[in-house]
Amino acid sequence: MVDRLSAARPKATAPGSDERSLEEIELRLLLEGIALHHGYDFREYARAPLRRNILMGMALEGVPTISAYQDRVLHDPASLQRFLNIVGVNVTSMFREAIALRVLREEIVPWLRTFPSVRIWVAGCATGEDVASLAIVLRETGMLGHTRIYATDINEGSLAIAARGLLPLESVQSSEADYRRSGGRGALTDYYAVAGEMARLDETLLSGVTWSRHNLVSDASFNDFHVILCTNVLTHFSRELQTQVQELLYDSLVRSGYLIVGRLESLIGWGSSSLYTRVHESSGVYRKGGAA
Ligand SMILES: C[S@@+](CC[C@H](N)C(=O)[O-])C[C@H]1O[C@@H](n2cnc3c(N)ncnc32)[C@H](O)[C@@H]1O
Repeated sequence: MVDRLSAARPKATAPGSDERSLEEIELRLLLEGIALHHGYDFREYARAPLRRNILMGMALEGVPTISAYQDRVLHDPASLQRFLNIVGVNVTSMFREAIALRVLREEIVPWLRTFPSVRIWVAGCATGEDVASLAIVLRETGMLGHTRIYATDINEGSLAIAARGLLPLESVQSSEADYRRSGGRGALTDYYAVAGEMARLDETLLSGVTWSRHNLVSDASFNDFHVILCTNVLTHFSRELQTQVQELLYDSLVRSGYLIVGRLESLIGWGSSSLYTRVHESSGVYRKGGAA
C-alpha cells in the first residue's frame, strides 16, 4: 500500500533534515494562521532572523513546538502582542539615526521652509523614540508648528506606548551623545521631566502627531509626504517585500521628497535607476528623482 503522507514528504538528505523540514512546515503554518486570522503578514520577512526570533518567542512562552506556539498566538491576545514585539522587533532608541537627522536639520529643513505646511510620515515608529527625536529637530529649527507628523506601526501595543509620551529614562539619558551628533546644541533634559524611571516628554512636542496602525505590507498609501522616515524596518523584509514596500514609499512622496532609511540599510536597485539620488554617503537619506 502506498503511504501517501511519506510520498508527499520531501526526501531526507542529511540527519536531522526531517526535523528541519517539519519545522519549516510548522513555521509556514504559523505565519499563514497569523496572516489569515490577525491580518499581520510576516510570510515574506527575512527567514533567518524571523526563525531566530520565533524560537526566542517560544522560549519566553515556554512552549516546546512551533505548533504549540501557533495555538497560543492564535487564541491568546496577550501572546500575540508578545509575538509582535519580538518578531516585529520593536527595539529602538532616540537619535539612533543621528547623522540622518543632522542631514534633515541642515539640508532638508531649508527645502521644507519653502512650503506653507509640511507632512512627515514616520513609518514603523515602534514606541515613538524616532518621532520624539524628529519633533525635537523640528522644534529646534522652528518647523514643528508648520509640520504634521503621521506616526504609524503595525503594532498597536507599541503605538499605545508611544502616544503616552513616556520613555524609559535610562534610555533617553544614554541618547545625549547621539542628540549632539545630530547637531543638537541644547540638552535632551530640556525636553522632558523625570517621572520615576520614566522621562515624560514635553507635551507640546507630540501634540501635532497623528498615531495610527498601518501595515506596510498590506495597507495602501494614505497621503503624500515631504519626508518619510522608515528606519530599521526594511531590513526585516525579504528582498521582494523590500521592493514592494519601497514602491509604496516612493508613491507616498511628493516630487523631490526625501526618504530616510537606516544607515545600515540601502534601497534595492536605487543605483541602477533614476528613482532616487542618495543624498549622503554615511546615512540612509535619499531624494526622490534627484535634485528639483
Ligand atoms: C526595529 S523597529 C524600528 C523602530 C524605529 N524606526 C527605529 O529606527 O528605531 C521596527 C518596527 O517596524 C515595525 N514593523 C514591522 N513590520 C511592519 C509592517 N509590516 N508595517 C509597519 N510596521 C512594521 C515593528 O512593529 C517595529 O516597531
